[in-house]
Amino acid sequence: MRAVLMGPPSAGKGTQAARLGTELKVPHISTGDMFRAAIAAGTELGRQARGFMEAGKLVPDEVTMGIVRERLAHEDAQSGFVLDGFPRTVPQAEGLSKILASQGVKLDAVVLIDVPEDELIRRATGRRICQECGRVYHVEWNPPPGDACECGGALVQRKDDSPETVTERLATYRAQTEPLRDYYSVEGSLAVVDGMGDPDEVHRRIVRVLGRCS
Ligand code: AP5
Ligand code: MG
Repeated sequence: MRAVLMGPPSAGKGTQAARLGTELKVPHISTGDMFRAAIAAGTELGRQARGFMEAGKLVPDEVTMGIVRERLAHEDAQSGFVLDGFPRTVPQAEGLSKILASQGVKLDAVVLIDVPEDELIRRATGRRICQECGRVYHVEWNPPPGDACECGGALVQRKDDSPETVTERLATYRAQTEPLRDYYSVEGSLAVVDGMGDPDEVHRRIVRVLGRCS
């Protein structure tokens, strides 16, 4: 299965993509996670991405395409993947389609997780992430067992989850990523899934849609 999970900031892409990747036994590939890892490691890529991320803007397409091209060439991505947060612009979608065409394959499904804006802000500002294992919690809807993660790791808030940056990320989404809705609708591969309700319920909806695409 080669699937893309798209949707606005904090729609639940990471939560759902991690679960799908495990169930389908394919890698969960998140460009946001790759950029955050590069920032934490202090690499040149991290240096390039940091300012854009902290301002709620997109990292330039050529930088993003470079890391995705490299990641999709790995052995573990040859039989499938779940992409999370990529593509985010029409040029990225065109770039992805070229990479896949060069491998003689194509996407099976593009799933857009649809969540109203007021809920997105609640999800972003309540998110806490384990610094050790990367597990994602929500202070209200998916609370950690105590002050720390189940694994004992410290919980942190993402820098771009402040209300101001979330507002900027939403504006960026509307301007640069929403056009992909039309792009993939025309291609016939888009399925819109209601992202409200608990994560298990959303997962069941996505699995139903993917079942129709495979
Ligand atoms: P990225 O990391 O992709 O961030 P995002 O798209 O803004 O999305 P989030 O990770 O905030 O949310 P999510 O949809 O994964 O939700 P989650 O499952 O965590 O990108 C960050 C930045 O990197 C971008 O702004 C940009 O600068 C750069 N970047 C990344 N990709 C790029 C690209 N392709 N091109 C250019 N730049 C790029 O859930 C959120 C919260 O809600 C959690 O607390 C979770 O527990 C909770 N939750 C999840 N599901 C539910 C539910 N059903 N009910 C209640 N709560 C829920
Ligand atoms: Mg995410």
